[in-house]
Amino acid sequence: MLRIIIINGPNLNLLGRREPEIYGEDTFDDFMIHLKGKFVDDDVTLEYYQSNHEGHLLDKLHDVGFDYDGIILNAGALTHTSIAIADAIAGIKTPVVEVHISNVHKREAFRHHSYVSPVAEGVIVGFGLRGYELAVQYFL
Ligand code: DQA
Repeated sequence: MLRIIIINGPNLNLLGRREPEIYGEDTFDDFMIHLKGKFVDDDVTLEYYQSNHEGHLLDKLHDVGFDYDGIILNAGALTHTSIAIADAIAGIKTPVVEVHISNVHKREAFRHHSYVSPVAEGVIVGFGLRGYELAVQYFL
């Protein structure tokens, strides 16, 4: 059994409504239905967690980080600020793939630095929601 979880950080609950010209018009709930249909079977589970609170994201990383096989993390703006999230990733066993929907390198300079990247297995940036799909494929 392969256990994969997608963890989204602040403001990503607004997908579909938030700056659709940057983040697209799909809600994450609809996208999860598509992803589960594509990948979940008797051997693969795919969960989703979203929080706007840094501490809750840390708790979730600690909860899943010793048992799950893969974490797909879009930490939103906390990517650019949170040493605590970087420390959590360094401290757990489960590999983390960092995903960003937009190409952060095409955007403001403050989005170019990530505290997550140095502790991530890999980074997928700028392919919209497809990035999450590519990350699941990596873990499979
Ligand atoms: C984001 C990029 C971040 O800079 C931004 O703060 C987000 C979303 C992305 O998926 O493109 O909230 O992580």
